[in-house]
Amino acid sequence: MRNRVLVVTGGGDCPGLNAVIRAIVKRSSRERDWEIVGSYEGFNGILREPMELIILDEKKVSGIHVKGGTIIGTTNKGGPFAWPVKNKDGSWAEVDRSDELLRKLQYQNIEATINIGGDGSQTISQQLFEKGCNIIGVPKTIDNDIAGTDFTFGFQTAVEIATDAVDKLVTTAESHNRILILEVMGRDAGWIALHSAVAGGAEICLIPEIPYDIDKILERIHSRICKGRGFVNIVISEGAKPKGGKASGHKSDEVGYHNLKLEGAAMRLMQELKDAGCEEDIRATILGHIQRGGSPNANDRILATQFGVKAFEMVLEKKYGKMVAYRHPNIVSVPIKDAIAESNVVKPDGQLLKTARGIGISMGD
Ligand code: F6P
Repeated sequence: MRNRVLVVTGGGDCPGLNAVIRAIVKRSSRERDWEIVGSYEGFNGILREPMELIILDEKKVSGIHVKGGTIIGTTNKGGPFAWPVKNKDGSWAEVDRSDELLRKLQYQNIEATINIGGDGSQTISQQLFEKGCNIIGVPKTIDNDIAGTDFTFGFQTAVEIATDAVDKLVTTAESHNRILILEVMGRDAGWIALHSAVAGGAEICLIPEIPYDIDKILERIHSRICKGRGFVNIVISEGAKPKGGKASGHKSDEVGYHNLKLEGAAMRLMQELKDAGCEEDIRATILGHIQRGGSPNANDRILATQFGVKAFEMVLEKKYGKMVAYRHPNIVSVPIKDAIAESNVVKPDGQLLKTARGIGISMGD
């Protein structure tokens, strides 16, 4: 009987997931007697009846490293500890199916599970590990907000997409003497905004870590626009908030979706500027899921491939309860519990923040 490894992709998708899957399969094929099995849509595939599992061999993963998304699907709803079930009255409840999951893993002869996902998925990894599951985490998020690793794959691709958008908005802002606001992803961490603001040359960058003051933003605008001439580009994270305020969003009505649905940061800023007396023309662009789609760039393909190879080698070494991490220049393993204990956010004394301020980018404070 061959040793089996279950591969799961959970949470929001991200460029590079397929490159990780391919690397796991390729590395395992260099060892004798290993079989890689994918669970469709996170742990849903193994928990569903009938199960949706797929054998991942070299033929199946051939060439997928250039493809965005994940060939085994993903979900950011529910999970083994909070499985949504419909009550007779039509309302929804959540049940814990983790014991059943462990039994199914055993029944399927799964020696180890590799869970590729963000902080929510790695919290599930830790909970399963504490219940005796042989699990290894691979960090994934375009937001780059997972602690323990310098970078996650997908982030660099998202920054390139956001920077391309800033570049395009700069030329139209300049032609029309306008203020153009670009809203990018970044729930709790402003990395995409900060990187693309520096790379694209925005004048103002607003991130969740630094609540903004509308008067400070106006000051910066008026240092650039005089008598209707001049232009300003603003990059704002979806999770940015005014001083004393909250991130703009609402509770989702999607079953099993626990995150606050962040929406409206750019539109709110536009209104706040007008209310504060700004008379210039303002337009807002929301980049949205474009940042998560499409082919990973070369750096993300490489990082994802390194993560996949390392994850399988951690299975060989039985390094369970650990997460793959990039600590320049090495690919290492760190305890999952340490990685989920905190978030990787932009620090007040961070180098790139200093650089941004150094070239006159206003952070709205
Ligand atoms: O966590 C990554 C992220 O891209 C966040 O920046 C964003 O708020 C969230 O995913 C949106 O995910 P979805 O639309 O899939 O629920």
